[in-house]
Amino acid sequence: MRTQFTILLCTLHSIACAGPALFTNEARTPQVASRRLRPAVEDDLDDIVTVFLDAFKPSAGWQYAHSHDDDYTDYTWTCTRQFFQGEWESLHPSRTFINVIAVPRDGGQHHDDNLRGESVVSFGVWNWMKPQEEVADSSFPFRPHQLHAAPGGKCSEHLDVNTTRAADLAQQLSLAVEKYIRNLTEPQLYLNLLATHPDWDGHGFGARQVEVGLKEATRVGMPVTLLASPAGWPLYDSLGFRSLANITHEMFDGLGTLWSEYMRWDEKESGVRSALIVQ
Ligand SMILES: *[C@@H]1O[C@H](CO)[C@@H](O)[C@H](O)[C@H]1NC(C)=O
Ligand SMILES: *[C@@H]1O[C@H](CO)[C@@H](O)[C@H](O)[C@H]1NC(C)=O
Ligand SMILES: *[C@@H]1O[C@H](CO)[C@@H](O)[C@H](O)[C@H]1NC(C)=O
Repeated sequence: MRTQFTILLCTLHSIACAGPALFTNEARTPQVASRRLRPAVEDDLDDIVTVFLDAFKPSAGWQYAHSHDDDYTDYTWTCTRQFFQGEWESLHPSRTFINVIAVPRDGGQHHDDNLRGESVVSFGVWNWMKPQEEVADSSFPFRPHQLHAAPGGKCSEHLDVNTTRAADLAQQLSLAVEKYIRNLTEPQLYLNLLATHPDWDGHGFGARQVEVGLKEATRVGMPVTLLASPAGWPLYDSLGFRSLANITHEMFDGLGTLWSEYMRWDEKESGVRSALIVQ
């Protein structure tokens, strides 16, 4: 599936993802000789943090809550890395899977099983969800709005964040998750977070990640749900997701609203089987 849409997709938390351009600049896009989609390993976390920050920082939601970002670039990276490490360590493997797309660092071909020679440029975090189940926050790993809870030392001070704004946005997002994602009547696969490094837009990496999730869900007969950011919405729409609810998030100081869209994909309803033809 080739798509011109930028594959900066984010889900809910990607409310944070409002900003990026919707069309890629092909000329800027690096050539890719070889790439690999595989489960994430702990050694990927450095790259994942960089992908995450570079993808989310331009968005309206991030800019709103992280008003002091530019003064604290290293601090933000280090504290996000620390937060992601904690999330990684509390992951429940039966509940969550994370896929990455990696490309060779030297721009050449992949060498078998040599993960050190490649860098991660895209990642997706998925949750298996069941009804009537107490789901802890740790079951929704890596969500930007949980960052404000990042533990420990200097990172607890959140120097880069306007905590008034961040806490309020987190509260609004949590309510949306409560209502649309946790309050289930049937088991489903939830796309929690998806991001591609902006330097790697235009290769269909986001679409590829989603298609793998759709296949997994189809295999076990479940629908796929997500909360799409404005930047991610066109991709999900093109893959046959239905838009079911538009969620509006008010900002302080008359700055207007952010939005996200509750979306659902079901093999039986989507009629977009071609979405499952992957490269
Ligand atoms: C959960 O869903 C039920 C109906 O399916 C609805 O009555 C209830 O208000 C929902 N709860 C939340 C928190 O949205
Ligand atoms: C959701 O609502 C906002 C206005 O609050 C609108 O700008 C946006 O286009 C809507 N999204 C979709 C997918 O319809
Ligand atoms: C933080 O955000 C609140 C609400 O928008 C605003 O009133 C306050 O001035 C901001 N604080 C700083 C230090 O930017």
